Amino acid sequence: MNKIINYELSRRFSAEIHDYVPGGAHTYSKGDDQFPLNAPGAIVRGKGARVWDLDDNEFIDCSMGLTSVCIGHGYEPVAQAVCDAAFQGTNFQRPAAIELEAAKLFLETVESGDMVKFAKNGSTVVTAAVKLARAFTGRNRVAVAKEHNFFSFDDWFISTTPCDLGIPTHVRSMTATFSYNNYSSVEALLADNDHDIACLIMEPVKFDPPVDNFLHKVAALCKDRGVVFVMDEMVSGFKWDIRGAHNFYGVKADLATWGKGIANGFSACALTGRADIMELGGIRREGDDKLFLISTTHGAETIGLAAMVATIQAFKQHDMIASNWGRGEALKLRLEQVVAKHGLGKSLQLLGYPCLFILACRNAAGEADDAFRTLMLQEMIARGVLFQGMFYPTWSHQQAEIDHLVMAFDESCAIYRKAIDAGTTNQLLMGRPVKPVFRKKI
Ligand SMILES: Cc1ncc(COP(=O)(O)O)c(C=O)c1O
Repeated sequence: MNKIINYELSRRFSAEIHDYVPGGAHTYSKGDDQFPLNAPGAIVRGKGARVWDLDDNEFIDCSMGLTSVCIGHGYEPVAQAVCDAAFQGTNFQRPAAIELEAAKLFLETVESGDMVKFAKNGSTVVTAAVKLARAFTGRNRVAVAKEHNFFSFDDWFISTTPCDLGIPTHVRSMTATFSYNNYSSVEALLADNDHDIACLIMEPVKFDPPVDNFLHKVAALCKDRGVVFVMDEMVSGFKWDIRGAHNFYGVKADLATWGKGIANGFSACALTGRADIMELGGIRREGDDKLFLISTTHGAETIGLAAMVATIQAFKQHDMIASNWGRGEALKLRLEQVVAKHGLGKSLQLLGYPCLFILACRNAAGEADDAFRTLMLQEMIARGVLFQGMFYPTWSHQQAEIDHLVMAFDESCAIYRKAIDAGTTNQLLMGRPVKPVFRKKI
């Protein structure tokens, strides 16, 4: 089944792009250092759950553009809505009429918050949540879950990672961390009456479920301590539930942030929240101090909003959440059977939920291991699966795609087994292992 053999144009692209674009990509997690050597250098086009690279190699896509492509590449109803909007003009000197329609539809769909502000990037809306919380509470610091790896590329968050170069040192002290599912770590942060925490931000869920009523207890504690409770739904929104994972678990957020899969890969993100907090960014309270919330030239550009409206309509029309869960459940079960067949239960674990799950790769000693992980990515890619460790089942992952994924995984597991038996990837891995995105040294 090893079908990807021609990489010539990919190699040329990768050799050239670093001369023009720092990092060779516009998202670090798409970078060369995140993939094995046989990964396609660049993608030319996509259709459904399939993509084609520069050398016209075809791949089944597993991560779907950092999980932003929630229905499928080039999905016609969304693409058509975007084309229609583009021909009507994309940016005007007064609000576009679609801004009201999109706001009403989004709020009625996600059932979270009374008001919404749109933007082009997730980082923008999460940082806006921080600003609102600071203005609302009069406090300065932010608390984030340390197990959740990304909230914003802005300084207040990146200063908490090893990549703190270029950030003034005093910024670091503005952000505190707690542990997801560790209620006492949250209590400890808020114990002091002078705690100075304006808001607490986490994803409702990552790959391990909330335990012991964690989300509800933290929401109640935040309310009691006057802290703004922010649920970051960038990844979980439109996956666990169209209303986000906080609604899936029945917990209320003061503010919530949305992006990635709400517009089938188009650039549309949202901040939703309680009217009394959101209205701080308004201009109706004459005489009050003005808070400069989100104000960007392209924030409400019509094609992003048109894509979002069409995406919501498609999700509702086809009940895509239920079908994604069903497809994911079947896929996860079959992959688990493959792992068991190869006796790899100690080395390969599928973590997460049917709507989004990852493969944790360990070495023969049972430790997380970048070389072993890279070997699995390499073998899947060699078999026409663009795999980065994550499975995001969408409407476009139909039976043929699922069967191909399982077959590629089966063959890749046979190679992985050899590496486990040998105790090393040395004879099997072509080149260097992948590296963590957040690291001190290049
Ligand atoms: C949980 C979470 N929040 C926020 C962001 C930032 O979104 P964006 O990349 O659109 O700025 C991301 C991006 O990966 C994310 O995963």
